[in-house]
Amino acid sequence: MGELGIIHDGAVMIEGGQIVDVDTSEILLEKYPGAQKIDASDRVVIPGFVDPHTHLLWAADRAAEFEMRLEGKTYLEILEAGGGILSTVEATRSATIDDLIAQTKPRIQTMLSHGTTTVEIKTGYGLDDETELKMLAAIIRLGNEVPMDVVPTYLGAHAVPVEYKDDPSAFTDQLCTEMLPSLKRWWGANVSDQRLPYVDVFCDKGAFSLAQSRRILEAAKELGFPLKIHADEFENLGGAHLAAELGAVSADHLVTTSQEDIRVLAKSDTVAVALPCTPFGLAELDYTPAVDFLDAGGLLALATDTNPGTAWCESMQFAIALACRYMRLTPAQAIVAATINSAAAVGLADNIGSIEIGKQADIVILDIPEYNHLGYRFGTNLVHTVIKKGHMYPVKGS
Ligand code: NIG
Ligand code: FE
Repeated sequence: MGELGIIHDGAVMIEGGQIVDVDTSEILLEKYPGAQKIDASDRVVIPGFVDPHTHLLWAADRAAEFEMRLEGKTYLEILEAGGGILSTVEATRSATIDDLIAQTKPRIQTMLSHGTTTVEIKTGYGLDDETELKMLAAIIRLGNEVPMDVVPTYLGAHAVPVEYKDDPSAFTDQLCTEMLPSLKRWWGANVSDQRLPYVDVFCDKGAFSLAQSRRILEAAKELGFPLKIHADEFENLGGAHLAAELGAVSADHLVTTSQEDIRVLAKSDTVAVALPCTPFGLAELDYTPAVDFLDAGGLLALATDTNPGTAWCESMQFAIALACRYMRLTPAQAIVAATINSAAAVGLADNIGSIEIGKQADIVILDIPEYNHLGYRFGTNLVHTVIKKGHMYPVKGS
């Protein structure tokens, strides 16, 4: 995982939005004398970051809740009292698709300028059939309107909505028998040209139990959806084990995961996605035990988890800085986790996540002299230029 395959004085040849050659500058300049040149001298060129776990589409904000937490209320207490995710649900239910898109586009722009070229976005602030599909429609439209690949995930099982407060298992029934089949029909009628979205469940204390998560994920799998799971953010309920058993593409958070579940997950093809901005955002002290995952032979990725409650942070560079400190990744390991491994966490490792011939030309030029300045430096944007599908987006200078 610490192997970067660095080419000193390297060059990349791009044509039609694809990488067509990679070698030293000397060789490529001789091979393609007429090509237009982008000078990256004294800088570092890496694959665009892939952010495989975000809740980027939402309405309003939760700044007041942040202040409540500073006064001592916990995230789960606020959720139990009908705030937290449920307050964003209220705002999102009453927003139009245009509103949601208008509020989300600047966040995508911030991500792009911080070097992210592919982002996964979850629904989950609707918690009813109509609003979940409204969010999904907005996510699909965003993908068509911004210079960023957008991977959609359906998270109808993000929290139990107020109308089911007294009978949470009836909401699980509703998801399995009504909402997931409705999602399948909606997708077939509206987005037939893309692969099916991921279906995700928040398996944790205060959200869905292991048995409920199993029911929902099994129902989704039965309908042909690929799976993801939020597991062990607060309590170890066994979600990581379930992810491995059901062949989920990823299991995310993994802060309180047991050693046994770490071993099971590491032996599976499921990618472990760590979200260090979340404990940081909640001022908690425990992070994903990344070294244990790596020692067990697991595949580890990084994401921001951008959301209005726990972690409003669009920057993969900041996630890397935290991962190097609190998860003890080297900068090289963190770069792998934020590019090729995170591409694997959204099933796209064949097309993005590395600078290889035949892959999409999603590339970031960093204004740093060596790769190990990533992680080491934090709090400012180190990106000089973003190249997305071969198009240039200058960030610094001209
Ligand atoms: O990944 N854990 C659940 N969902 C988000 C938080 C969402 C919110 O608070 O709005 C997370 O941390
Ligand atoms: Fe999340």
